[in-house]
Amino acid sequence: MQDRRVIIDTDPGIDDALALILAFNSPELKVEAITTVSGNVPLEDATRNALQILEVLDLPEPPPVACGAAWPIVREPLAARHVHGEDGLGDIAVLTNAGGGPRYPRPTLSPVGTSAVELILSLLSESPGEISIIALGPLTNIALALESNPAAFSQVQEVIVMGGAVNGIGNVTETAEFNFYADPDAASRVIRSGTPIAVIGLDVTTRTLLTPAALEASTRDRRDRVAEFITDVSSKYFEVSLQRRGLSGCPLHDPLAVGVAIDRSFVTLESFRADVETEGHLTAGMLVADRRKRAAQPAGPTIRAAVDVQSERFINFFLSRALP
Ligand code: BDR
Ligand code: CA
Repeated sequence: MQDRRVIIDTDPGIDDALALILAFNSPELKVEAITTVSGNVPLEDATRNALQILEVLDLPEPPPVACGAAWPIVREPLAARHVHGEDGLGDIAVLTNAGGGPRYPRPTLSPVGTSAVELILSLLSESPGEISIIALGPLTNIALALESNPAAFSQVQEVIVMGGAVNGIGNVTETAEFNFYADPDAASRVIRSGTPIAVIGLDVTTRTLLTPAALEASTRDRRDRVAEFITDVSSKYFEVSLQRRGLSGCPLHDPLAVGVAIDRSFVTLESFRADVETEGHLTAGMLVADRRKRAAQPAGPTIRAAVDVQSERFINFFLSRALP
């Protein structure tokens, strides 16, 4: 199979980390760049975490990491340290090794000098129609790239977005999902742009629960660095999912978006006219998809959004790739 060339825009984030591991362990994908954005943690932490994940993976040729937006387009930044830990990776910064030193020292890799927007636009311009973006955080970088050079951005093959929920059930508020709530203005601009978009929202991602027992079974006989890292970052995620949501496992939100880039048949996609609410007192950040049955769709930009998922198949796939 031919490699699918992708840029991963991300705010690591525990599930972002799991998504990056899945991407780098999947021969179907060629990750051309990682761009970082403020989201689960502020930009500086998100960038450090992206570099940390690359160091754990110890790739022979790591892709460039470019820093993106530190602030949403209109709103103040919002973080989710209560879910992802103080450092954004489940508080691994405080863990020590047998000798008492830090188990995860500060990464030695550095970001490139180019900004996320510049790197996205130059990669898309150099390879028209050949590169997709997998967006795992707030859509600030994507909206800024789209607006700063619409012609260059229009060369994107597709944007696969983890965000929103077609059924309108949120995880930050009653109606809004975190990535869209963190920067609703960016999400609205991207959704309305007419770019080919596949939205992988909470409707499906909350049905991909990785349980502690399944992870334990996959890591039991392993002593390697990636297995140790996945175990270390996931323990906080399991704890929070149980305490805050009563869930028996943690949702593989961001990994599912990567999974769809590899194999579309993990989800069922349907077309919707859609927008994101930027102002509503109760509904800011809500993905509003027109689910009414119509004889003919009214004109206007549409997105494809996932409405069903092969959960068990995807979870097994994730484990087989992340922990081969
Ligand atoms: C999304 O929000 C973040 O906390 C996760 O990393 C994921 O991208 C889920 O709502
Ligand atoms: Ca994320």
